[in-house]
Amino acid sequence: MTNRLDGKCAIIVGAGQTPGATIGNGRAMAVLFAREGAEVMCVDAHLDRAQETVAGIEAEGGRAFAFEADVSTVAGCEALVAEGKARMGRIDVLVNNVGIGAGDAPPHVISEAVWDRIMTVNLKSAVMTTKAALNVMREQGSGVILSISSLAAWAGHDKIAYEVSKAGMIRHIQAVAIGNAKYGIRANVILPGLMDTPMAIVGISAAKGMTQEDLRALRNAKVPLGQMGTGWDTAYAALFLCSDEAKFVTGVALPVDGGAACKVAG
Ligand SMILES: NC(=O)c1ccc[n+]([C@@H]2O[C@H](COP(=O)([O-])OP(=O)(O)OC[C@H]3O[C@@H](n4cnc5c(N)ncnc54)[C@H](O)[C@@H]3O)[C@@H](O)[C@H]2O)c1
Repeated sequence: MTNRLDGKCAIIVGAGQTPGATIGNGRAMAVLFAREGAEVMCVDAHLDRAQETVAGIEAEGGRAFAFEADVSTVAGCEALVAEGKARMGRIDVLVNNVGIGAGDAPPHVISEAVWDRIMTVNLKSAVMTTKAALNVMREQGSGVILSISSLAAWAGHDKIAYEVSKAGMIRHIQAVAIGNAKYGIRANVILPGLMDTPMAIVGISAAKGMTQEDLRALRNAKVPLGQMGTGWDTAYAALFLCSDEAKFVTGVALPVDGGAACKVAG
């Protein structure tokens, strides 16, 4: 432990994970932030998933607690921020990590229901949770917001709701960064590329009717560095952006993608 977040109070929304053998982005951030000295509020719509993350952190001697909230409702977004402030006394870091893509489709067939659901869970949740946290952070005169978007914000064509929601998260964070800099608040966004997390591998292999190993090979071959990233890669980038080491970094959209964003021309 190097205490890069010593004394910080952090909320990670979506700190549980889709069940599977590898670690998700949200859980990896929660574990790493706690290792670096933060107290971590682990929020998830599935309380058992958040509790599992907390159990892992406590087993290592870290400080964390679980909270159940569904950020597809404004009440859920507001409740988690109120709980974080009440339990920890302050909110130094908010991470918006929730993201879904089930049922998504290309522009000519996307259904209204799927569009509304994905935009609500991915984008509106981050907007409303950030709004509530900003009021606490403005009063403190400090704070860091981090949203987890996706490289799909910049490239892709067949999952239009996911892509647009993730693009919206980038513009949202840029606006938050500029509008709140004078209050000592920073805001950044990470764009994970192809990651070997259960959400990606378990979910997509089932949807495509492929084995997990075939999907892994296909995805590894697309990454310039030769293999997918992991939840830890997202977490280490997040750690830097949420620590004081990044005190001059705000409004940044950082791909964590093994070089994929540079590969437009193939
Ligand atoms: N894995 C990848 O390849 C990849 C690539 C690019 C971007 N991302 C983004 O990374 C983020 C998360 O990745 P992950 O591996 O942690 O995913 P994950 O699915 O493992 O974890 C997300 C957690 O969010 C929770 N959640 C879902 N809906 C919720 C809601 N309405 N309210 C509260 N909690 C809710 C889930 O229960 C889950 O525990 C997502 O935003 C995703 O879009 C992932």
